[in-house]
Amino acid sequence: MEIDELPGIGPSTVNKLREQGFLTVEAIAAASIGNLKEAGIGNGPAAKLIKAAQKAACIGFMTGEEYMEKRKQVGKITTCSNELNNLLGGGVETQAITELFGEFGSGKTQIAHQLAVAVQLPVEKGGLGGTAAYIDTESTFRGDRIISMAKALGLDPIETLKNIITTKAYNSDHQMLLVDKTVEEVAKRNIRLVIIDSVTAHFRAEFTGRGELATRQQKLNRYLHDLQRKLADNYNIAVLLTNQVMANPGLMFGDPTTPVGGHVLAHFCVGTESLVLTQNGLKRIDQLTLKDKIYNGNKFINILSKGSVMNEEAFEIRANGIIIATAEHKFPVFVNGKIVDKKVKDLNVGDLLISTKKINISSELTNLNTKAKKLACLSSKCSKKIKESLKGRFKVNKELEEFTGITIRQLRRIINQSYPTDKDKLKRLITYALNRDITDFDFKLVYTNKHKNVRLPNKINKTTVRLFAAWLCDADKRDKHLVRIKKDSKDYLEYLAGIITNEYGLKTSLTKIKNKNCYQLVINSVKLVRMLKNIDINKLILLDNELILEFCAAMIDGNDSICKTHITFSHVNIGLINILQMLLLKLGIQSTIRREKQNNNFNVTQFCFSLNILSPGNHILIDAMKNKLKTNRAFGLKQNKKIPIITHAIKDIIPVGIKEVIDITVEGDYFLCNGIITHNSTFRIKLRKSKGISRVAKLIDSPNLPNCEVIFSVSEDGIRDI
Ligand code: GTP
Ligand code: MG
Repeated sequence: MEIDELPGIGPSTVNKLREQGFLTVEAIAAASIGNLKEAGIGNGPAAKLIKAAQKAACIGFMTGEEYMEKRKQVGKITTCSNELNNLLGGGVETQAITELFGEFGSGKTQIAHQLAVAVQLPVEKGGLGGTAAYIDTESTFRGDRIISMAKALGLDPIETLKNIITTKAYNSDHQMLLVDKTVEEVAKRNIRLVIIDSVTAHFRAEFTGRGELATRQQKLNRYLHDLQRKLADNYNIAVLLTNQVMANPGLMFGDPTTPVGGHVLAHFCVGTESLVLTQNGLKRIDQLTLKDKIYNGNKFINILSKGSVMNEEAFEIRANGIIIATAEHKFPVFVNGKIVDKKVKDLNVGDLLISTKKINISSELTNLNTKAKKLACLSSKCSKKIKESLKGRFKVNKELEEFTGITIRQLRRIINQSYPTDKDKLKRLITYALNRDITDFDFKLVYTNKHKNVRLPNKINKTTVRLFAAWLCDADKRDKHLVRIKKDSKDYLEYLAGIITNEYGLKTSLTKIKNKNCYQLVINSVKLVRMLKNIDINKLILLDNELILEFCAAMIDGNDSICKTHITFSHVNIGLINILQMLLLKLGIQSTIRREKQNNNFNVTQFCFSLNILSPGNHILIDAMKNKLKTNRAFGLKQNKKIPIITHAIKDIIPVGIKEVIDITVEGDYFLCNGIITHNSTFRIKLRKSKGISRVAKLIDSPNLPNCEVIFSVSEDGIRDI
């Protein structure tokens, strides 16, 4: 199918897409809304287009079985050094990208040559019986070296050379185009290994300025993504990249220990909505900036890079929390007393994911912007002057209304009856009418009757978080002038009404809703609505623990979800549940999230999420709720003071089709995401020169192998053991 055959697509859109390089239906299917936006297509149409393209391209659900089947096909190519093979768990894998990095002369190109020959060996000799493509950016490919390596392995030298197609890439654009050219060759020639030597040379030469770093990184990311999707995955090919890192780390690519794409390989991704903790509160992972510091379960660490949002085949992993991740994303797993990293595609139900016992961050009280603003009344002298100046202009005067923000009706009151209004408005009125600035003699500040008794706090306190919790769960957020909380429990609403009247001095009204077993509490106050709307739920985690506990208790208290044996909190909004889970972690309370189908009032099935507090956390919450009237029945709950759990068994791994995902790389590789410790990194080997012909290879960030070092040599015959 061609892109112009997609439903609902016009010729101008087709042109825009083509100009931006979206030439195939598959390319659109794999694009994100953001990508299409760059091509000048709006959000709505972009979403529709991607959906249609995904349908057309049959990118659908891949079952767990299909994945296992695919995994079985992973092939390994020998490096001709047993030591190096052991380091890699057998050899260089297909369906993956392997990056060799190191200084000049460390042997990157030699290993690349060796693999181009070895891939041609039959399977029983460590090859894949296939051919290789060598994309050469530095003109370092040497036919004579291939010939001597082939001879050493007993292969026909000329045949071997013929089985390696070499292409020079002249610049980064050309290099990127060569991916598609290679795809064309793949089937014709049974290519099983694609080498890019070196992946970064052109990018490095072309994007030199500091300002161009981001552009370069983006381009490089897209390139790596293409390599993984179009070659490694689709054709079960091994992709080998070389990357020269300089001895002086201050240059170009920054820290030489970060990978080419800055770890930003498309596959090591989690869902864009995943929640992480930064020093400024909770954030969705796609909203992180490189300035943020991110919590890793122990402390705040730097973010090294952030990819762009992509659409990828993803899995939903359910343990203590629910997290969406791609097949290649890694999680540390607890096995026999040790922690090892496993890729999502290798995870099993029952594997133990790691959580954190408690979020330990120092707290900081958040200010509320609720100071009742004093209003200003015009002095009689000033009123008179304005009246004279505006003579005859009191009827319709659009210009005045626009300039001052005061309607003519209000203006009459302001001038004739000294009606209180905003000082800024008076200031503009004086400028308009008298052409001068406001002075202290023009007005006096007053509290109006309406606001006299209202005492909204200027710092978040226990009442605020309690009311905020009730508002979050049970109020209509569209109300601009009043807070309306609906609940079937009259007691609970009376309790809320009590604190609102006593502490804030606001009037409340509590009525039964007709024909429904439900009550509503109404508080008429724009200020209160504004106060509640101004509380940033993502920042609650920065409050001190006492307030967080009050908030959590209030959420659960108002949720009618305490039964004899356990405490749960149910809500349709998973975002809210995720936040609550993180808040509980700050208190050292562990919980798990379950997704449940439920019928709503209209008998329509919808999903609901429930957060179950694990027993060691029960008593903390119960103690907090003891004084509240709703919780009497919870006192029978067993208080189990076992050590808090830090591992959680995976209950389910479900393929969820194409999802928006994003990759970030952090210092030290681990971070806390949706309450689960997750890992991000790639298959990478660091090479180093040693004495004479010997070289040292160190595996970095392996999915499940230890990060150890081995020694090998670059001999006349090629790569060998010492
Ligand atoms: P850059 O591309 O400059 O970043 O380096 P690299 O890591 O690609 O280095 P390369 O793989 O080219 O390694 C160079 C080293 O390999 C040389 O210092 C030699 O020791 C060795 N070497 C290269 N060619 C031959 C050869 O034909 N025979 C032998 N015995 N050794 C070779
Ligand atoms: Mg080289």
